[in-house]
Amino acid sequence: MLDPLTIPPLLATDPSPWLQVFGRTHPLLLHTPIGLLPGVAMLEFGAALLRRPSPRGAVLALAWCSALSAAAAAAAGLVLAGEGGYADELLGWHKITGLSFAGTCLLAALLAARSGRGPFRLALVVALLAMVPAGHLGAGITHGEGFLLAPLQTKAKPVPPAGAGTTPASVFAREVLPILERSCTKCHNPEKHKGDLDLTTAAGVQKGGENGAVLVAGDAPGSKLLRVCRLPEDDDEVMPPKGKSPRPSAQELEVLERWIAAGAKFD
Ligand code: HEC
Repeated sequence: MLDPLTIPPLLATDPSPWLQVFGRTHPLLLHTPIGLLPGVAMLEFGAALLRRPSPRGAVLALAWCSALSAAAAAAAGLVLAGEGGYADELLGWHKITGLSFAGTCLLAALLAARSGRGPFRLALVVALLAMVPAGHLGAGITHGEGFLLAPLQTKAKPVPPAGAGTTPASVFAREVLPILERSCTKCHNPEKHKGDLDLTTAAGVQKGGENGAVLVAGDAPGSKLLRVCRLPEDDDEVMPPKGKSPRPSAQELEVLERWIAAGAKFD
């Protein structure tokens, strides 16, 4: 069985800037086959439903457009994955379903020229079925797992809005949390918790990550939370990982530093 986590990115080392740009066209390219393939299916099955001859030329042309754009999107996706920062189970399954989608699109395009319609229609249906999880997992990677149905969940908000209730909001809620929310919680939240770290609540920040506490009260330079933010941009361990979320500004880092130096209090 193929382990989804071990599919290598297309490039192990730093890709050239142009290749990197190609990788970043992935979110742009991927919409082409998502739009075209259902069109192919509508033409093919619509004609069959209406008992008309299938518009072969249009089906064949669109099937190839879908296949080639799916292949380009998959190639760009593999390059983009090589940029790192996506070390996630979601990514492994996204690769598997995305490559299956591109593969079956190509197969469908090859079969579309044949006069027997059965194999082509089967490949078309399989490609459409692979498209759903591939797209859904891709959305999960960019927007966070459970993005689609999150509004239906009646979970309590992790932190009350600043100034809510009668007690004034803590420095943590008022000043620190908004910084974490802007730069960090895309990956460090209860659903995603990269590095086993949840930065959406006081409890999560206090608990720390897979390597233990990220805060040392009163010791800003010794606190991992701040240290990883101050690493140079191309360091492997810098947070947020290069290009993934806005980096905290110098001013924001100062807020974090002052808060930790003052004892990293949550009340
Ligand atoms: C794009 C996703 C992403 C963003 C945004 C992000 N992180 Fe991370 N973070 C990760 C991943 C992935 C790991 C695990 C790294 C590893 O295991 O090598 C991690 C690990 C960590 C760790 C180490 C936890 C431990 O115990 O080892 C800390 C501390 C951390 N992040 C802090 C932050 C802070 C602070 C921010 C915001 C300024 C941030 N991260 C933003 C993805 C992200």
